Amino acid sequence: MRHPEIVLPRLIAHRGLSARAPENTLTAVRAAQAADCRWVELDVQLLGDGTPVIWHDATVKRCSDGRARLADLDLPRARRLDVGGWFGDEFRGERMATLSEMLVLVEALGLGLNLELKVNRGRSPAALAEEAVPAALDVLPPERLIVSSFSAEALACSRDLAPASRLALGVLFEGIPDDWRQSCEALEAFSVHADWTRLRRRDAVAVREAGYPLLCYTANDPAAFAHQWDWGVTSAISDDPSRFIGHLPPEA
Ligand code: G3P
Ligand code: MG
Repeated sequence: MRHPEIVLPRLIAHRGLSARAPENTLTAVRAAQAADCRWVELDVQLLGDGTPVIWHDATVKRCSDGRARLADLDLPRARRLDVGGWFGDEFRGERMATLSEMLVLVEALGLGLNLELKVNRGRSPAALAEEAVPAALDVLPPERLIVSSFSAEALACSRDLAPASRLALGVLFEGIPDDWRQSCEALEAFSVHADWTRLRRRDAVAVREAGYPLLCYTANDPAAFAHQWDWGVTSAISDDPSRFIGHLPPEA
């Protein structure tokens, strides 16, 4: 099967450079690029008014000065939130990023994007895919985009929107299940993404032997992660990729 010619780096900045800047913000993505990261992972979901925004949680409690559920916000209300002050005073005034402004920034910085379709409980996988995937394809070249999700439905809708030659899909797992290969084949997936703390050597080897890149989240301890490189893991998704300097195998 033909996929976009994606060259993955060893390290991908999780939610932008989220160890150093408020996660999933424009500032976190600029910080990732300043720290020499070539790819970032970001979460996308819809506000109640249908606007795709870069956000992880179902509510804004943890990462803003508000309390609402994302599904209850429209863009003007979401934009009034301060999404930086919770992380540090120097980030006060940061605003929630829309997907469209984030895509413009990622493209301008020359970064690759692992865009995670984050389907929180009660939200529509199809509505999210239908908004987010065409927008991402419009701005980024196929070799700088992976659309990933824990939601098989979101991935299936994404596949319906673009063929495998044009859109790389990443199947997200916690532990890799026995039927991982069927799921990946049905979606014509490009890559497998797994929780590194639950990864078993035999699954890592099987994924790599089947030809899929294997991306592991969220790896912040380079010493503990050494085995995973030995098992053939392609890339680590990290809050702080700089910790891995001096602890990496050669590029895949
Ligand atoms: O995409 C990998 C990782 O981000 C999945 O978990 O909860 O950090 O979005 P989470
Ligand atoms: Mg994520």
